[in-house]
Amino acid sequence: MYIIIKKILQSSMSSPNRVRWVFDCENWFPSKNEWSHAFRSIQSEEKERIGRFVFKRDAKSSIIGQLMIMKYLSETACVPWSNIKIKRDTNNKPFIEDCNLNFNVSHDESLVVFAGEKNTSVGVDIMRNHYKGGKSLSEFFRLMHRNFSLKEWDYINNGTEKQKINTFYRFWCLKESYVKAIGTGLTINLRNVCFVPKQDLKKNDFVTDTELYVNNEVMHNWVFHEYLYHDYTITVCLNRNIHPIEFKMLSFNELIYNAEYITEDDENYCNIFMAKENQPK
Ligand code: COA
Ligand code: MG
Repeated sequence: MYIIIKKILQSSMSSPNRVRWVFDCENWFPSKNEWSHAFRSIQSEEKERIGRFVFKRDAKSSIIGQLMIMKYLSETACVPWSNIKIKRDTNNKPFIEDCNLNFNVSHDESLVVFAGEKNTSVGVDIMRNHYKGGKSLSEFFRLMHRNFSLKEWDYINNGTEKQKINTFYRFWCLKESYVKAIGTGLTINLRNVCFVPKQDLKKNDFVTDTELYVNNEVMHNWVFHEYLYHDYTITVCLNRNIHPIEFKMLSFNELIYNAEYITEDDENYCNIFMAKENQPK
């Protein structure tokens, strides 16, 4: 009981520098007006990149991620929205120069998640716990085998098919949150980034005691906050031992509350988006 109360208190005491946001794109059907509001509030190079997506679903997820970054930086660093300049490093990781605010975005299926932290590297990854591949599960596991250690496979290969899928995505989120926190993305060998879980994930609770080994050496300076959020797994990787906080669901209006227009209106851009299919058939 004491531990539960402590966790609730800690999660409600989050400082404004520390945020966890989630947005549900499946229930967001942007009108022309809303789409225009969204793309006019992001940088022109990001607008162009998002315009190249074939499907609405991908464009929506990516623009929401951009708006989350802009909202976090403008509210936390108290910089006017239109003065923010997000850059991308050589591995494509978004960042801003000369600032101790760190952030990361992830999307899968209908959800977009965001984690923001001060003075702490942060990576986030989300996966829906359901197998979506065209191949059989065993073929998929065979192809993914090289990304995991033998110990990790032993852990994954336990229980029913559903349990195996959930555990696979748990390990995947752990690995990706780490490579996103250090910024390399998938350029490093994931087999050398190994995780040892101490307990199963539980709904409405956090797991924070999973250990990381890199090249067989335990990394005590990295912590992982693992969440089961509806039927998604979310993992936040941090290089500081700090308490986990709850994800807050944002509405579109909350997201653009402080937004300022950065670019001109663009009727053609809007029409092209409205005509797109939502997702592959
Ligand atoms: N480090 C940290 N963050 C990065 C990044 C990097 N090197 N590169 C991009 N990002 C950020 C961006 O904000 C990006 O959003 P955007 O594309 O809208 O700009 C966001 O992370 C994407 O994260 P996520 O939604 O988790 O994407 P992903 O899982 O497809 O890919 C990477 C994330 C960065 C690891 C990418 O290198 C990659 O190629 N992943 C392959 C994924 C894969 O094979 N999945 C199979 C799962 S079973
Ligand atoms: Mg991912």
